[in-house]
Amino acid sequence: MRIILVGYGVVGKGVTSILARRYLEKTKDYGFNPKIVAIADIDGAVINPRGFSPEKLEAIKQRGYPISADPDFGHPGMKALEVIESVEAEVVVEVTPVNIQNGEPALSHITQAFKTGKHVVTTNKGPLALAMPALTELSDYNNVCFRFSGTVGGGTPMLQFAKKCLAGDKILAIKGILNGTTNYILSEMSQNRISFQEALSTAQKLGYAEREPSMDIDGFDTACKVVILANWILNKKITLKDVDRTGIRDVSLQMLDDASKRGNTIKLIGAIEGNSVTVKPTEISKVDPLCVSGVLNAVTFSTEFAGEQTLVGRGAGGIETASAVLRDLLDIRHKLASRMLNNNSES
Ligand SMILES: NC(=O)c1ccc[n+]([C@@H]2O[C@H](COP(=O)([O-])OP(=O)(O)OC[C@H]3O[C@@H](n4cnc5c(N)ncnc54)[C@H](OP(=O)(O)O)[C@@H]3O)[C@@H](O)[C@H]2O)c1
Repeated sequence: MRIILVGYGVVGKGVTSILARRYLEKTKDYGFNPKIVAIADIDGAVINPRGFSPEKLEAIKQRGYPISADPDFGHPGMKALEVIESVEAEVVVEVTPVNIQNGEPALSHITQAFKTGKHVVTTNKGPLALAMPALTELSDYNNVCFRFSGTVGGGTPMLQFAKKCLAGDKILAIKGILNGTTNYILSEMSQNRISFQEALSTAQKLGYAEREPSMDIDGFDTACKVVILANWILNKKITLKDVDRTGIRDVSLQMLDDASKRGNTIKLIGAIEGNSVTVKPTEISKVDPLCVSGVLNAVTFSTEFAGEQTLVGRGAGGIETASAVLRDLLDIRHKLASRMLNNNSES
């Protein structure tokens, strides 16, 4: 499987590290032979049609920015779109920064990959939040796979759990704490009795919150994940504008104290129930399995037969999220293998 990696930041570097570390085991265990044939970053690319060895991937990482200065394989100034169009590969792994205004540059990278017959794995929520129904249609039309398990829950397999482990059951509703930053802030406020502003500053100092924190604290990040869950698991054709969203700026210490007297606390919950798709601060019991603290994420699937199933895990992190990319690559590999089997049995 030849792979073009687009974006070489925290997750991109995690992907090369994991593929290099797992290379031999995966080849042995799954007949899976991943080869990174190109890496495109903002200022250029490195390309080797035969695939970079684990040693070369490590050397590229050690050498640092800009990767396109590599004397053997560097292509300074070459745009990711050109790389996707011109380099032969089966899969594009798209891990550029999120943008919920217009989804770019990822939206163009993904559609270009589809049009050139390449499967796509992404951890980028932007294009999915804005255009998930259209993108899944385009991938089907081009007969390619589109996987994005790292977009919800980081390394915690929330999408696969619902899609695969709960297959056959009917998922009636989904609710979850899907953003580690806001969960950290609310946990700090209630456990240490500090204000929202103090908790936000601590989160920023620790690197849990961005200097411009709106994406997290105004609930946009959670809303993007809710859109992905709604489309992928519940087959709803919705986008970001369909989510009724409220962030946590107005959650006060008083509100948390009042909730605590009732044995409850307040969490930023993304929920899909019937036609209602919401993100809002919600009072939940302190003994609800969903009630996790710190930067943890949790999601509860309410099902017709198996009751409530809750999954808890870290919702972010470079290597964790890269592990979701590896999972998606293996999933594509299995899908392609079964397609080949079907074609052979038909011929
Ligand atoms: N980090 C996590 O824990 C995590 C978890 C789940 C999902 N995600 C998602 O995964 C994606 C990647 O996250 P990250 O943390 O790796 O971000 P990051 O560290 O900012 O890396 C993004 C990389 O993409 C590059 N890039 C920007 N514009 C580009 C373009 N037009 N063409 C090619 N490359 C371009 C950036 O280059 P420059 O730095 O030079 O601009 C950078 O190397 C994001 O969408 C994020 O939301 C991240």
